[in-house]
Amino acid sequence: MMPDVERRIASLFAATLNPEDRQMGLEEVLDKARSHDGLLLTSFDKLGPNFIPALPPSIRIIATHSVGYDHLSIPQAEAKGIAVTNTPGVLTDATADIALLLILGAARGASWGDRMVRENRWGETTLISPMGLDVSGKRLGILGMGRIGQAVAKRARAFGMTIHYHSRRPVSGEDALGATYHASFEALLPNSDFLSINCASTPETRGMVNAVALARLPDGAILVNTARGDIVEDAALIDALGSGRLAAAGLDVFKGEPAIDPRYRTLDNVFLLPHIGSATPGTRSAMGHKCIDNLKQFFAGEKPPDLLTTW
Ligand code: DGY
Repeated sequence: MMPDVERRIASLFAATLNPEDRQMGLEEVLDKARSHDGLLLTSFDKLGPNFIPALPPSIRIIATHSVGYDHLSIPQAEAKGIAVTNTPGVLTDATADIALLLILGAARGASWGDRMVRENRWGETTLISPMGLDVSGKRLGILGMGRIGQAVAKRARAFGMTIHYHSRRPVSGEDALGATYHASFEALLPNSDFLSINCASTPETRGMVNAVALARLPDGAILVNTARGDIVEDAALIDALGSGRLAAAGLDVFKGEPAIDPRYRTLDNVFLLPHIGSATPGTRSAMGHKCIDNLKQFFAGEKPPDLLTTW
């Protein structure tokens, strides 16, 4: 956690911190949980399906330092009477910035360009090689027009893109930003020169971006993902990037991260980041304080503001 967050936690609770930032396994977390009433963890703590059922009865709340909560089973928590909270809102801008970085980086070859300079291969460049793709004038398809999707749309418009999107429901009023709604994901795909994934990972969305979906994108499309890796089928994406059917991809999240499919490392047309959507001091601090606010309110006997479980 950010130092200001750790200081506030220590001042409010009898807390056990993790000063070495060690990734703990399931057994160690369960062991430590026995002497605590609540847990503050992150989306990087993938403790598996046995985690919540195995928690000791002392644990009454889990505050996750993330907006995504696919690493926690809400039904399992509810069955044990454990409250779960997350951190919506405070990471919207930082994550949308990374989506734009991926759009621009994938389109303009940030990754191979960086490598050419580092490997002292600048002399190989000519006026026609290497080249990237324009962003302005292109159609950006957004899968999931929630807070982050809308923030991506706002930024992309400033780059001259036109916005299409698919969500369960159309966004109303000003939040729609003049974007075109598609009632189905299938209908969105042929209208997406760029496709940005901004939906949550749920049983419905997992594997949704598969070979069939990728085949519906225009030739030479670009895919960017700042949501969750398991929404994409890696084999299908890697095939499409390898064959040139897709021009490029920009990925901040991966299925099984940090153990990503090694084939991504060999592709020149993919711009890779290590899940840094929310990684700025201001954002990570705001996320930490949101966790504390939720814990504080819960232990005061009040409904926490970002409660995901029923009260
Ligand atoms: C989130 O908050 O869900 C981000 O992906 C960081 O974990």
